[in-house]
Amino acid sequence: MKILVGVTSYAAAWVMPRVWVERLRRDFPHHDFVDAWDDAGIRRLVPEAEVAFIPYLSRDMLASATRLRWIQVPAVGVGHMLSPEMIASPIVLTTARGLRARAIAEHVIGVALALARQLHVAVRRQIERRWAQDELEGATTAIRSLAGATMGIVGFGSIGQEVARMAAAIDMRVIATKRRVDPAPAGVARVLPPDRLDELLAESDVVVLCVPVTPDTRALINRDTLARMKRSAFLVNIGRGRLVDDEALVEALQRRTIAGAALDVFTREPLDASSPYWDLPNVIVTPHTSGAMEDYWTPLVGLFAENLRRFESGQPLLNLVDKTAGY
Ligand code: GLV
Repeated sequence: MKILVGVTSYAAAWVMPRVWVERLRRDFPHHDFVDAWDDAGIRRLVPEAEVAFIPYLSRDMLASATRLRWIQVPAVGVGHMLSPEMIASPIVLTTARGLRARAIAEHVIGVALALARQLHVAVRRQIERRWAQDELEGATTAIRSLAGATMGIVGFGSIGQEVARMAAAIDMRVIATKRRVDPAPAGVARVLPPDRLDELLAESDVVVLCVPVTPDTRALINRDTLARMKRSAFLVNIGRGRLVDDEALVEALQRRTIAGAALDVFTREPLDASSPYWDLPNVIVTPHTSGAMEDYWTPLVGLFAENLRRFESGQPLLNLVDKTAGY
């Protein structure tokens, strides 16, 4: 079988080291692996491939992918790939769902605690060499404890569930929204359907966005929904930038109609130097690193290898995307 491996990116951190292609060649000597390291390479090799391990397939590439049957994506979000042509095509998509869930949950708890403990303010004062004891712990201190506070998790998939587990472990009350509502697991007070998002927003001290971008979730956080949040609440976005209407969020943060935000994903990445998010004193910006791990490639290539064995023997693939649902 001709297999295209092209795990490439604009970000060096997301380019798979070449050694992993050699590893796949060694472990699957009966297949013909071709490798690509940029967009042009993927474009050139896609027409021959039956299987592709690539981060995207643009609409125009899809037209030439006449032999392609399955794409393993090295990420979780696939909203950018789901054109009407892709949805209609017989090509099967699988994702890396779950692999970064623990790392992302640690990040969410980290930034939630940082905002609650005002560590972002302390670090800014440190850079200015200013002893901010009175500012941070005066009579009107903004520092607070998360014990007993409510964590509202929007999207209760593998990441949301891991966030819930860790939030419960620091004594937070947890509520969540989920498309297919199941009974709330241990440690979760309530699981609501997405049309009850307003309830979650009104009750939460920390709102975490863990949903994929679909037509239903694009700009989910907008003027209306921001107005439902508590003035003291924090927003954490580790999902996708397009879940948020940036203009509305910047305004809410400037006017302090919400208390702060930790943003790891943006409508356009890398985040432009002119973005107002950089300078807002109540915002923590991280460069799409919430899922960073010491070694992502071992579990990722392990997942692809497992799925390749399944594909060869006609067994169901892991992490199959429901293309009409959008994730
Ligand atoms: C990264 O953002 C991913 O979708 O895995």
